[in-house]
Amino acid sequence: MEIQQPKDSDYLNDFERKHMPFVKEPVEVKQGAEVTITVNLGELDHPTIPEHYIKWVALYNGEEEIEKKRVGAGGENQVEFTFKADKEMVPRLLAECSIHGIWDNTFDLKVK
Ligand SMILES: [Fe+2]
Repeated sequence: MEIQQPKDSDYLNDFERKHMPFVKEPVEVKQGAEVTITVNLGELDHPTIPEHYIKWVALYNGEEEIEKKRVGAGGENQVEFTFKADKEMVPRLLAECSIHGIWDNTFDLKVK
């Protein structure tokens, strides 16, 4: 399935803001430490009804999946992931909407 990305990542429209998995604050952590992030689905809440919902959200390091969590109809619009911080990590979040496909975003991760 094709991965959706915003037309202009500096100016997301409301449709894009409902679909891009989103982390509000920059994440600052020491190398090797465990960190928990809260991912919003999305910056504007995506619907969570049987006809239209987020199927899953996944944390990636570049092309490698670290963890995938099911969401589903009636699910929460926030999902937490815990992982070990690594300077080499290329943070990526993917989420699949039941209608609008897979959406790809990053978040600001500073590992010291
Ligand atoms: Fe959708």
